Amino acid sequence: MRIVFIGPPGAGKGTQAEQLVRTYELAHLSTGDMLRAARDAKTEVGQEAEQYMSRGELVPDELIVRIISQRLQQPDCRKGYLLDGFPRTIAQAESLDATLAAGGTPLDVVLEIRVPEEELFRRLAGRGRADDQPEVIRQRLVAYREQTEPLLDYYGKQGLLTTVDGLGSVEEVFDRLKAALDELAR
Ligand code: AP5
Repeated sequence: MRIVFIGPPGAGKGTQAEQLVRTYELAHLSTGDMLRAARDAKTEVGQEAEQYMSRGELVPDELIVRIISQRLQQPDCRKGYLLDGFPRTIAQAESLDATLAAGGTPLDVVLEIRVPEEELFRRLAGRGRADDQPEVIRQRLVAYREQTEPLLDYYGKQGLLTTVDGLGSVEEVFDRLKAALDELAR
């Protein structure tokens, strides 16, 4: 299965991805995790990315497309993967579509996790990651609304979008996601 997660910061993408990749034996491709690892390793890419991440802005498309294209070629992706945090712009989605079409391996589903903004602030305030200060969270939400939300229409038109309510316990949300995936597999 080839799955994309879309949702605002704090929606629970990373949390749910951990359980889903175990259940369905998928590779977990989190662009946020990849960028934070590159930043911590002080690579050139990581240091460039940090300038954007610390402000709550998206890193440039060409940088992230390069990273993810290389990652998709790794052998563990052949059995399926969950893209967590990519694509986040129409340009990224078009690039992904072109790559997957060339390989004859289209996406199976795009799962949107929907959570109201006040709950996102509550969740992120309790986490304490470097980009979880209120001003940076606000900017991440602006980036989500302006650059990522248009993907809902983009994938909706392709008939790939399924929206899941992200409110409730981690287990409740997981059960909804699993039900959506099991329904697709029927
Ligand atoms: P990224 O790491 O992808 O961050 P994000 O999208 O802002 O998402 P978060 O990790 O904050 O939230 P999440 O939805 O994964 O929620 P989580 O499970 O952690 O990106 C970081 C930055 O990298 C971006 O700002 C950008 O600069 C850059 N970047 C990454 N990808 C990029 C791309 N493709 N293009 C350009 N730039 C890119 O949960 C959050 C908290 O809530 C946790 O504490 C968790 O325990 C809690 N929680 C989860 N579920 C529940 C629940 N059901 N109930 C209560 N609490 C819950």
